[in-house]
Amino acid sequence: MKMTAVYYSKTGNTKKMAEEIVSGMLTADGAEAKAMGIDDIDENWIKESKCIVVGSPIYMADISSEIKNWLENAFMKYGPMGKIGGAFATADYIHGGGELGLRTILDHMMVFGMLTYSGGGVLGKPVVHLGPVGWANHLEENLEAFRIYGQRMSKMTIELFK
Ligand SMILES: Cc1cc2nc3c(=O)[nH]c(=O)nc-3n(C[C@H](O)[C@H](O)[C@H](O)COP(=O)(O)O)c2cc1C
Repeated sequence: MKMTAVYYSKTGNTKKMAEEIVSGMLTADGAEAKAMGIDDIDENWIKESKCIVVGSPIYMADISSEIKNWLENAFMKYGPMGKIGGAFATADYIHGGGELGLRTILDHMMVFGMLTYSGGGVLGKPVVHLGPVGWANHLEENLEAFRIYGQRMSKMTIELFK
């Protein structure tokens, strides 16, 4: 079952975390997953994906204009309706607006009729409520949470769509 982690990344942090999510997705039986930048979309892959997670660097306490523009204009043509959606971000500061950025992505997904998911708090540690946020100077410490988040997204997608 195909899954996609889409990202915008100017300096590589968000790309790195997208790749970690994909490595977590791939640990679920039957999962096929790819990370791709918004400028390098594999159209057939994303259209066939049952789960799409979208990631952005946090700019001015929200998502970057590049991801906002992509969500508003390109995303629709990949048929997001009825698919599992998730959000992730990277930021410099723990209080720098990461959660607000996640909400913006999830709100766009709701508008497109996606089924938003993260695993929430019920699956234990790492507790990920809306989605994972990586801090630029602590990315190595955050890798495990992103990987487990990817695994949770993948398992739920397979459970619902198998
Ligand atoms: C224009 C600009 C605005 C930013 N605004 C914020 C911000 O409001 N809060 C924050 O925590 N980090 C902010 N950052 C830092 C980035 O979110 C952070 O370095 C991120 O990991 C970069 O991701 P990337 O390497 O994928 O491009 C900003 C960076 C830039 C370039």
